[in-house]
Amino acid sequence: MSIGIIGSGALGSNLARAFAKKGISAIISTRRGPESLASLIAEVGPSIKAGTVEEAASADIVIVAVRWESIEEALIGLPAWNGRIVVDGTNPVEFLAPDAPEDPTNPLAAYGIKAIDLGDKQSSEILSTYVPGARVVKAFNHLDVNVLPEPEVSGGQRVLFYSGDDAEAKADVSKLINAAGFFAVDLGSLEVGGRLASLPFGSLSATNFIKI
Ligand SMILES: NC(=O)c1ccc[n+]([C@@H]2O[C@H](COP(=O)([O-])OP(=O)(O)OC[C@H]3O[C@@H](n4cnc5c(N)ncnc54)[C@H](OP(=O)(O)O)[C@@H]3O)[C@@H](O)[C@H]2O)c1
Repeated sequence: MSIGIIGSGALGSNLARAFAKKGISAIISTRRGPESLASLIAEVGPSIKAGTVEEAASADIVIVAVRWESIEEALIGLPAWNGRIVVDGTNPVEFLAPDAPEDPTNPLAAYGIKAIDLGDKQSSEILSTYVPGARVVKAFNHLDVNVLPEPEVSGGQRVLFYSGDDAEAKADVSKLINAAGFFAVDLGSLEVGGRLASLPFGSLSATNFIKI
């Protein structure tokens, strides 16, 4: 299956590094265009290609790796989804500017983020509205991305959680996670598993298990 990545920042670039280590092909894209990715492509090697957002979004599995506030701008106007798989790697957080004024009401200020209040909605439910007709699976969002290029550690495989409402789409994403060297663990539906693994408050978020 072809793989596209929208966003080449901390999450997108580290996914590219992880995929490249296993020779998994992917097209990675960014708002600034493919030319801006020359140094990443030189670093990771030939399995990863730089493309436009439209090219990445035409893959069988499209991983969304943009900040929460960018999802609408990044996903509007892309080719019809027609049942293709969208992997939601986002978390509903705002990244604070380094010079942001102190906010004593923000318990996450020390981490440089602020939770975005989605009311009673789960984040992938909202993201799904921007990719009509896609089968959405939540994955790659619950760990510090700096560990992603090292799926195999301490004699075992790093656990990556995934959740979704379409069994076949989940099976395909699970295969991708395992092919990249991780140990894929199904957390159930988006409503249950998505909430459990979503930063900042999901009880399994940032949990870094190793399957021995
Ligand atoms: N950082 C972490 O440890 C971590 C862990 C788990 C999950 N996440 C989640 O992953 C997502 C991305 O976080 P990040 O840390 O990777 O952010 P980041 O480093 O700021 O990267 C964001 C990327 O999105 C691209 N982008 C923004 N708007 C776009 C658009 N309209 N079209 C195409 N690309 C666009 C940016 O492209 P330009 O640079 O060209 O603007 C950039 O490559 C967030 O939802 C975050 O919550 C992050």
